[in-house]
Amino acid sequence: MSEHVLLQARGLTKTFGDFTAVDGIDVEVTQGESFGFLGPNGAGKSSTMKMVAATSPPSGGDLRIFGLDPVTDGAAVRARLGNCPQQDNLDEEITVEENLHVYGRYFGLPRKVIRERTDELLDFAQLTERRKDKVEPLSGGMKRRLTIARSLINNPEILLLDEPTTGLDPQARHVLWDRLFRLKRQGVTLIITTHYMDEAEQLCDRLVVMDHGRIVAEGSPRSLIEAHSSREVLELRLPLDERADHSDVSHLVDGIGQRVEALPDRLLVYTDHGDSTLEAVHARGLEPISSIVRRSTLEDVFLHLTGRTLVD
Ligand SMILES: Nc1ncnc2c1ncn2[C@@H]1O[C@H](COP(=O)(O)OP(=O)(O)OP(=O)(O)O)[C@@H](O)[C@H]1O
Ligand SMILES: [Mg+2]
Repeated sequence: MSEHVLLQARGLTKTFGDFTAVDGIDVEVTQGESFGFLGPNGAGKSSTMKMVAATSPPSGGDLRIFGLDPVTDGAAVRARLGNCPQQDNLDEEITVEENLHVYGRYFGLPRKVIRERTDELLDFAQLTERRKDKVEPLSGGMKRRLTIARSLINNPEILLLDEPTTGLDPQARHVLWDRLFRLKRQGVTLIITTHYMDEAEQLCDRLVVMDHGRIVAEGSPRSLIEAHSSREVLELRLPLDERADHSDVSHLVDGIGQRVEALPDRLLVYTDHGDSTLEAVHARGLEPISSIVRRSTLEDVFLHLTGRTLVD
């Protein structure tokens, strides 16, 4: 294995009883990359992350992190990782800075190092003013930033972020993204799961699209869009009868654009030229209630590959 490959999975599998949550995935992440797992609820993202974090053993396949086996060398792997699980698991009864101190001691860091790192990380997480406060009353965004700060106490080579911004308001998400960009610039390898296509597009150099425990596509956001969608999408809302939804009227645009997907509330017409496609819709005598032309996104990629939307 090349020294620049930090994570290598071959046929990685996780089962719970008869149920297969992760179904033989192959993944490779190299140093300095920002790598994503994009997929809907239940795709197997967290199950994968827990195996990578060396907190849940694989049921099958081969997994190497830093060239080490996370089952037999779990402590050595964990010492070099930062782990932000999907649910914040902060100690809410103690203060912000105590959370960092406790974690630093867990890794056996000298007190002086912990104090210095705490100052730096509270500044990084924009929590210096709250350092003496208990965790419990902090906002969701602050708790998430504290979880990330805590996971950085051991100066990890890889930072694992399981759904870093789920449940946060838009402003809190942007603050968090900004912090993650900074880490990336410092050379920290990021492994991120998300079911938000905008998050994947913002943060990931390369990603895999996961569905039902399998990888259905892999590439950079741009290359995935080029491979699996058109340049633009024309979104149409047509006037409907009382009980109809848009799948009942998609035949009205047959032959227009390259492909049509019907969602309950709109039609998505895939095309390289949205404006001329809209003219073709009008030329057919259709009068949409609304129409917008936008660029293709990873949401369109997922819809094309699976026939479903990422967020329901
Ligand atoms: N400990 C467990 N026991 C039994 N089934 C489990 C367990 N953990 C996860 N699963 C199941 O495995 C599947 C994948 O779960 P996982 O949490 O990995 O998905 P996910 O992609 O992280 O989803 P989400 O976006 O909701 O976080 C789900 O169907 C889930 O119910
Ligand atoms: Mg999850």
